[in-house]
Amino acid sequence: MILSPSLLSADFGNLEQTLKDLEKAGISWVHWDVMDGLFVPNITFGQHVIKLLRPKTKLFFDVHLMIEQPERYLEDFKKAGADMLVIHAEATKHIQRTLAEIRRLGMQAGISLNPATPLNVLDYVLDDVDLVLLMSVNPGFGGQSFLPTTYEKVRTLKKMLGNRKCHIQIDGGVTPENTTELTKAGADVLVSGSAFFAHPPFDKRHEAFQKAAI
Ligand code: DX5
Ligand code: ZN
Repeated sequence: MILSPSLLSADFGNLEQTLKDLEKAGISWVHWDVMDGLFVPNITFGQHVIKLLRPKTKLFFDVHLMIEQPERYLEDFKKAGADMLVIHAEATKHIQRTLAEIRRLGMQAGISLNPATPLNVLDYVLDDVDLVLLMSVNPGFGGQSFLPTTYEKVRTLKKMLGNRKCHIQIDGGVTPENTTELTKAGADVLVSGSAFFAHPPFDKRHEAFQKAAI
């Protein structure tokens, strides 16, 4: 299981040190929650911050774009050093074109669904994605409670993907306690913000998540 800690719960004034601490704890991915105050009722950071931190770490930059019309910023995030761009199906009129453009720019392409968005949105883009992110909270804030409807949604998505090489990522309210059932259902990348950063030391907390994974 890949744990991708969400920086939304980290100290924004100390990101360089946080990234170094994550690497020391054996973490390989880091989750950037980019928010524009339109698609979600919150604002965080963007391509300029990511660009500054890029040279400071080898971590895989898993960038979650909670922004309207993400197609406007693909090149910016590529230049900033994003390794993967995850767009929201609800945030663009042109899902397939945007996913294809992300890959053309040389990044891995991901698509995220809000809790109420049905899986059939994915029907014609399953071969255009390297990752599907199922939101287990309504996006915008850390520290919310996990929505249990996610378990069935993961199981159904797993079947839909068949033997495609595509990650299933879960994001929102993920803890070591729900990690077992999520990974049993088929999730292989878990995002954790508050349940990770509120429980240092990071190496022990990383171990707790990995031990709970099937
Ligand atoms: C919410 C973000 C999540 C969130 C996870 O909009 O997409 O990544 O930061 O934080 P926790 O793990 O605290 O729910
Ligand atoms: Zn996220």
